Formats: sequence, structure tokens, C-alpha cells
Amino acid sequence: MAVLITFEGIEGCGKTTQYHAFANWLLEQGHSVLLTREPGGTIIGEQIRQILLSAGNVGMTSATEALLLAASRAQLVAEIITPALIKDCIILSDRYFDASIAYQAHGRGVSQPMVQQLIEFAVHGVIPDLTILIDIDPVQSLNRARQRDLDMQLSGVADRFEREELAFHVRVRNGYLAIAHANPERVKVINGAQTIDQVSADIHQVFTTRFPSLRRGVL
Ligand code: TYD
Repeated sequence: MAVLITFEGIEGCGKTTQYHAFANWLLEQGHSVLLTREPGGTIIGEQIRQILLSAGNVGMTSATEALLLAASRAQLVAEIITPALIKDCIILSDRYFDASIAYQAHGRGVSQPMVQQLIEFAVHGVIPDLTILIDIDPVQSLNRARQRDLDMQLSGVADRFEREELAFHVRVRNGYLAIAHANPERVKVINGAQTIDQVSADIHQVFTTRFPSLRRGVL
């Protein structure tokens, strides 16, 4: 049976870097790995992702945003995650439903029970076995994200979420921490202010502690 591991955190927390590094580490250990992401991860979902991230879509309401995220998620669960669950592999998702609690409920102020209902409608009980939450102060992470954009000469291309004010990112961070507090078995918080290698080492430790029986290449 597969294991589902999700990566979460605010913009610029280092989540995507760590997600790829962790995938490589698992592959080196001989595991089969399936990589996916939200919003997106399917042909339909990637189209929805473009609508969600487009900086031009300034008029999008919070309800529309929540519904589009739920739509992308429903497609991902049905098309990719559920079929993979019966295989012997480790499924890694760069974000999953916790992001909707953190961003739409805490960040945007959409009713949390409503967001929860949308999640349940989309995922049909597919809950991660482990969620890695990379936690960092938004002031530090937003500076990082901007520096990365400057380094890659991507200034001015910040997406709809990256353009949000600091207070929004503070609410999202607090939302994530509340989720971790409520789900201590599933959600493990890692200090994202450390070096890349230190964060990776913490992730490896969380993984081996959580899945001691996942010996090299054996599920
Ligand atoms: P992501 O690809 O993780 O962007 P980044 O690598 O820049 O963090 O996610 C895209 C954006 O979508 C991100 O800003 C957070 C947002 N999002 C939500 O608001 N709710 C959700 O449920 C998900 C999955 C993502």
C-alpha cells in the first residue's frame, strides 16, 4: 500500500526545494515515488492552476477561489492519488487540503466549516499519512521569495498569492500552526529558518521516525 506525504508552508518557506530534495533522497533509498502538486497535478488541474495564479485575475472572489481549488483537488484525488494508493509507492504532494484551511479559511476568511465541506467533497477521506509543515516568519520568507525572483530576473511576475500583503501571510502561517496543533500525529512542524541541509535532515528524521518499517526500498 502507498504512503501519502504532503508538504505545506507559506510562500518562500523552502517547501518546493525540500519536496524535490526529499523525492531524490527517497529514490536513492530505492523507493518508488510519485510526485504531484496542488493546485494542479492533472491536465485539468493545471488549467485551473493558471486561472488561480494569474495576477490579472484581481476580481476573483474568495468563494470562486475556494471552489476552483476544490475542483482541482477533486480531479487530482480521482485521477492520480486514489489509483496510486493501491500501489507500493510513496506519493509526495506539494500542498494538499491543509492549504485550503490555511489560505482560504484563515487567510481569506472563508467559513472554515464550508472549506472543510469542500475538502471532504473533493478528497473522499483521502488523508495524508504525514504532512511536513515548513514553518518560517513571513517577513523572512517573503524577502527570500522576492530575492529568488530578482535572482531569476522574475521581478514583477509575482502571482496572485505572492502579491498579498504581509498580514495575509501572517494569517496563513497562524492557520498552518493551528492545523499542526490540532493534528500533532499527522502534521510535523519543521523550522524553515535553518539552512537547506538542516531542514532536509529534520525531514529525513521525521520520516524515519514515522515509518520505521519502511526499510530501504521496501514498503
Ligand atoms: P504553490 O505552487 O505551492 O506556490 P509556491 O511554490 O509559490 O508556494 O501554490 C500556489 C498557490 O496556491 C500558493 O500561493 C498557495 C495557493 N493555494 C491556496 O490558496 N489554497 C490551496 O488549497 C492550495 C493547494 C494552494
